[in-house]
Amino acid sequence: MNSNTQHVSPANSSVMGKPHFHESARAQVSGSAVYIDDISELKDTLYAAPIMSRVAHGRIKNIDVNPALRIPGVKGVVLSSDIGGDKYLANFTHDEPILAIDHVYHVGQVIGLVVADSVMGARSAAKLVQCEIEPLPPILNVKESLKAKSFVLPPVHVKRGDALEAIKASEVTISGNLEIGGQEHFYLESQIAYAIPLEQSQWLVHSSTQHPGEVQHWVAHALGVDLNAVRVECKRMGGGFGGKETQGGHLAVWASLAALKFKCPVKMRLDRDEDFLITGKRHPFYYEYKVGFDKSGLIKGLELMLASNCGFSADLSGPVSDRAVFHVDNAYFLENVSISSYRCKTNTQSHTAFRGFGGPQGMILIEHIMGEIARQLDLDPLEVRRVNLYQPSSTGKRCVTHYQMTVEDNILEPLINTLAQSSDYAKRRKEIAQWNASNSLIKRGIALTPVKFGISFTATLFNQAGALVNVYTDGSVQINHGGTEMGQGLHTKVAQIVAGELGLPLDQVRVTATDTSKVPNASATAASSGFDLNGRAAQYAARQIKNNLAAFVSGLDECGAGAVVFEDSLIKTPHKNRAFKEVVQLAYANRIQLWSDGFYRTPKIHYDKTTLTGRPFYYFTYGAACTEVAVDTLTGESRVIAVDILQDVGRSINPAIDLGQIEGGFIQGMGWLTNEELVWNEQGALSTHAPSTYKIPTSGDTPQHFVINLWPEPNQEDNVFGSKAVGEPPFMLSISVFEALKEAVSAGLEDKVMQKKRINLSAPATAERILRAMQAF
Ligand code: MTE
Ligand code: MOS
Repeated sequence: MNSNTQHVSPANSSVMGKPHFHESARAQVSGSAVYIDDISELKDTLYAAPIMSRVAHGRIKNIDVNPALRIPGVKGVVLSSDIGGDKYLANFTHDEPILAIDHVYHVGQVIGLVVADSVMGARSAAKLVQCEIEPLPPILNVKESLKAKSFVLPPVHVKRGDALEAIKASEVTISGNLEIGGQEHFYLESQIAYAIPLEQSQWLVHSSTQHPGEVQHWVAHALGVDLNAVRVECKRMGGGFGGKETQGGHLAVWASLAALKFKCPVKMRLDRDEDFLITGKRHPFYYEYKVGFDKSGLIKGLELMLASNCGFSADLSGPVSDRAVFHVDNAYFLENVSISSYRCKTNTQSHTAFRGFGGPQGMILIEHIMGEIARQLDLDPLEVRRVNLYQPSSTGKRCVTHYQMTVEDNILEPLINTLAQSSDYAKRRKEIAQWNASNSLIKRGIALTPVKFGISFTATLFNQAGALVNVYTDGSVQINHGGTEMGQGLHTKVAQIVAGELGLPLDQVRVTATDTSKVPNASATAASSGFDLNGRAAQYAARQIKNNLAAFVSGLDECGAGAVVFEDSLIKTPHKNRAFKEVVQLAYANRIQLWSDGFYRTPKIHYDKTTLTGRPFYYFTYGAACTEVAVDTLTGESRVIAVDILQDVGRSINPAIDLGQIEGGFIQGMGWLTNEELVWNEQGALSTHAPSTYKIPTSGDTPQHFVINLWPEPNQEDNVFGSKAVGEPPFMLSISVFEALKEAVSAGLEDKVMQKKRINLSAPATAERILRAMQAF
């Protein structure tokens, strides 16, 4: 049996492709699931709390820690001067001090740590530290940083055809700008790490991180030890959403440095306000655009400027901004396009990965432009979207992206048509127009928008994964893989694939905590690729064990190994069925290896990071949403009334979990575009740093009509089980909310005989902004 070919054995129908519970759902709802703050603490454990800058930009003149040291239980402080080796984090761009050195770059930046024998003691003492900082002029928004050419990384330009000429030659042209706000991750478990010094300069770090391998690297670098001296473990996160892709590492490094200085285990957890003030968020974006099109709405030429607010350091801003550039086409063929992407440096938190990783910020621009074109021409926006869609690659026309990748697996047109029918889009649009014509208080809007999201890390090297599968002599199975569990159900899916391969019930297979000592050099669990990568690696490991067992029983029964079948807890040959457990015991007695590793790397992908061209993605995940909203013209308040979604997940390995990802992703995106408003004041301090002022959606915001269907076809590329990645793509279906809101606002403007054609609404579309947009004349 060749372990590298798909479908070598029939899927075990009782496990794979079935809606199983999340493997820790019961433990989570009953409170027995362990998060880092629940781990029993070792004797002598100390607690660290951050000393934060109150100034957005300035030079540190003096730090007086004495008031903190006088608090009973305080053991001391850790400042940059305590760091013996490199004072910068060992990240890619090497531009971020572990603790502020002689300057501060944003309000909330961590200047030092207070270490005490109680959490509250450390926190209250940290507030007493007196930092004398000479203020310097800060840059607080993207427009100022564009003017000052203040960037964290150089600008990137991508071009195809001659946009300028094409725009000039177009029948109609419009230009405009758009502003889209950031988003706080609001994981339920805030950032936390627990660093434990072991014997002989070795370390164990419990970290709430999407990337234990990088935490291991950062901690080893900061402590000046080799990677083999640091073991990082992550059982689960209480949500990550991209916020723990890099920024969980800071906590781990801080806790480790404190543990080094005080020679004790140290735990550090941010409270909610600290987490808001210290950690980066989704990048806010500012855009300018110019578009030329014909009377059917077909785009002829397009000039785009994307400016991302990256904060004070690069963090993941390079790849996030790249992904925005890769997704400005969304579902549409852009023949003549010129894109400039500026990675703006500002004196705020360092913005980071967040579900979609820049993709949403790319797509929302082209969807906004589609809406604007339609209103300009008085067309149905869905018709404008349709004429611009990528064509099937079989036509050989209009099927190559602006980064030179052919869209081979295009299902956009049939998917949109199916959803338009099932949601009754055309009829409802007419009814809404009638409603709006006769109701002046409540205006309604509807929009149907597609998503095409590229799957793979754009940095090709990250598209690799490893797994370890152990079969014990009682027939029970343990899996370890490089992916991390943040609630998305990765471990459940990986257990399903291994149980399915071995023909075992799901409860005979366990996934253990992610651990850098079991599977080394693992990539971040991100880019929605967790199951694609780790699921395949685990599948290959299971197949290796299957090969060993099949060879063994085929020897006993004198048949070909290919005739051996694993199902229903049995291992079957043409001559005999034996219990899996019985074969395992026999095999053990015959010294057959009962465990294996597995390794997978994604095929076909490549790309040139200087020109951003090539095939950065193995395949695309598609989807579409039809959303109806209502807006109160007196208050600006809005509600999402009805949502119909058709999402492509390939062949679903677990439809229950996939549905959960679609619902959660959509609602989270809806929050980004409606209620979740980050407000930095004129001094650069984030005013909305707690749930009292920052509002995420609640269960009451769930649309009353919320219908989700899955596209019935498997992945056209050879991906594990024929599935597709699902973690991020549904987030971008929420753009339909923003588009529907603008349709409703446009109806509100119409009453006032204003130019309903151009809608000046930025996101989040809060009540205030909607009201302002409706009064914009
Ligand atoms: N779902 C839950 N419940 N919690 C999370 O933190 N993170 C999202 C998504 N779904 C997240 C989630 C993000 S940002 C990504 S990249 C993917 O899950 C990562 O997991 P996957 O690759 O296994 O899909
Ligand atoms: Mo997800 S933003 O790729 O962690």
